Amino acid sequence: ADPDPLQDFCVADLSASEAVNGFPCKPVSKATSDDFFFDGLSKKGNTSNVFGAKVTSANVLTFPGLNTLGLSMNRVDFARGGLNPPHWHPRASESGVVIKGKLLVGFVTTRNVYYSKVLSAGQMFVIPRGLVHFQLNVGEGKALAFTAFNSHLPGSAVLPLNLFASTPLVPDQVLTKAFQVDEDVINGIRSKFGV
Ligand code: GLV
Ligand code: MN
Repeated sequence: ADPDPLQDFCVADLSASEAVNGFPCKPVSKATSDDFFFDGLSKKGNTSNVFGAKVTSANVLTFPGLNTLGLSMNRVDFARGGLNPPHWHPRASESGVVIKGKLLVGFVTTRNVYYSKVLSAGQMFVIPRGLVHFQLNVGEGKALAFTAFNSHLPGSAVLPLNLFASTPLVPDQVLTKAFQVDEDVINGIRSKFGV
């Protein structure tokens, strides 16, 4: 979904004082092999959180060599029963492959049609750009997946956090009306997210 590159590479200068839409390139003469290799997905993510899952991202912010190349990856670790909660990516479609365990992968279209399947190691999925999706660990042990995106910075809006843990908060009247529940339900949900 990103624009095509206009040169071989453009290693991001994340510290540049100005950027219009994306990041400027550091000088070609300053690029080294280290700019094009990244070790950040080799480590297991810490799944000790309310969801029991952790997304570790290799995008332009963590791996500046991806700048302008229109792609990025995540590693997603799942504790037993862990959920990568419903979320969506404004700037990319997503594909993924299960490396370990068993995952229920689902997405919902703009017409509220739900598609899903349980996948095990080696099996793959695709999430069309911008659609709400999740992965739930339905296996007996831990699970692991790698995902790939057609953007160097897909963005991720996590619905429960977007709606119930924003800064400042989305007003109670909006959430009670949207979900047809009382304020105590909204506050109960918020408290689980430390709000
Ligand atoms: C999984 O949905 C991911 O965004 O990595
Ligand atoms: Mn995703």
